Amino acid sequence: MDSIRIQGGIALQGKVRIQGSKNASLPILAATLLCEESSLIRNCPRIADVYSMVSLLKSLGCSIRWQETGIAVDSSQVQRAEMPRDAVRGMRSSLCLLGALIGRCKEVVMEHPGGCVIGERPIDLHLSALGQMGVEFVEESGRLKAFSHRLHGAAVSLPFPSVGATENIILAGVTADGNTVLEGAAREPEISALCRFLQRCGAWIEGVGTGRLVIHGGRRLCGTDFTVPADRIVAGTYLFGCMGTGGSVLLEQAPEDEMQSVLAVALQMGGHVYSSEEGIYVQAPARPAAVELVTAPYPGFPTDLQSLVLAVETRGTGCSRIEERIFENRFRIVEELEKMGASVETRESKSVLVHGVETLRGACVEARELRGGAALVVAGLMAEGETIVAGCPYIYRGYENIGRDFRELGARVASV
Ligand code: UD1
Repeated sequence: MDSIRIQGGIALQGKVRIQGSKNASLPILAATLLCEESSLIRNCPRIADVYSMVSLLKSLGCSIRWQETGIAVDSSQVQRAEMPRDAVRGMRSSLCLLGALIGRCKEVVMEHPGGCVIGERPIDLHLSALGQMGVEFVEESGRLKAFSHRLHGAAVSLPFPSVGATENIILAGVTADGNTVLEGAAREPEISALCRFLQRCGAWIEGVGTGRLVIHGGRRLCGTDFTVPADRIVAGTYLFGCMGTGGSVLLEQAPEDEMQSVLAVALQMGGHVYSSEEGIYVQAPARPAAVELVTAPYPGFPTDLQSLVLAVETRGTGCSRIEERIFENRFRIVEELEKMGASVETRESKSVLVHGVETLRGACVEARELRGGAALVVAGLMAEGETIVAGCPYIYRGYENIGRDFRELGARVASV
């Protein structure tokens, strides 16, 4: 079941429930390592990244029970802080175990989650902040060993609001001696969800939702019962699926407050958006108007939805300019969209011009990463004829069942 087959050209109609947030679940599951009692994390999505995090936690000695309502994690027996190589490789979010394990065990041995270890990007911000909090790092046969004789609070300033680094600083800070004052923190809603979880466990964190966090360390954390909020990126994926196909859809439980920049783009495209207690209702134009889009840290437009906008605008009525400012190499789907008849001009590595065409045609394309993969499925829904998207395990890392969800909205989609 590594591919998805789509018969395109059907406008999405109906309602779809939005799964729990991946990017909130992962650091919250990591944070259970700091609790002395068991916690119940409700509404965790059943996706590959959550399964990987659960097996990592098990390998560290956590006892885990999947229940109908959520995942019960008991970390009371954790002693071992060495992460198995294979589990870490390819899962960048395993990095948030670094801050939690340093807090819990005072030492960690882990594989670098992709790329080079110490030095330049991509984890320099994590290492330098934790270093200021008394953590030392050495590289041993390609593995990263982190240890701390005394984990202490510090005044830390991030030059860029990295989501993962902010999470690691919070996780290390709650058990450190003294206070950590973090300037330049990322403000993504998933960070606020992590803070709310820790607060319920007894942590004292001020400034939640702002760029300046004060984490009062040294408090004992108990277990709690916590519900993960809905996934704003999955909601955005289905919203743009609707925009691309000219449909009308209710995104049940979608987190409207967290989606203002996304809804603004849907409006620019000519969509109508209404919010109610049930969720967000979107009605698309026949073809989307062109947009100017620049990705930015929250509350700016999320990089994770950039490829969705790119896919939708291949059928736009004008020329859209899309600039990616968070990650490099995030235009990898352009080549695949061109197989479907899209007209995209790559300006420089960070921006593209998308010239809308009247119709896309179905083709065999390949997903090479999570959100780009979801964008190719949306392009398939928009296209005339049959599209096969290969490489779907990337998509399953973040979507519980993208095929089922689109089928509920009337699309003809099958796993093959
Ligand atoms: C998280 C999200 C991801 C989202 C991203 C940006 C999770 C599991 N993943 O990833 O879906 O796309 O935020 O919103 O929550 N950087 C450095 N040095 C560092 C850390 C980051 O240079 O030490 C750079 C990265 O290479 C990247 C940028 O900063 O260019 C953003 O990274 P970051 O905010 O850390 O993203 P992640 O936490 O990896």
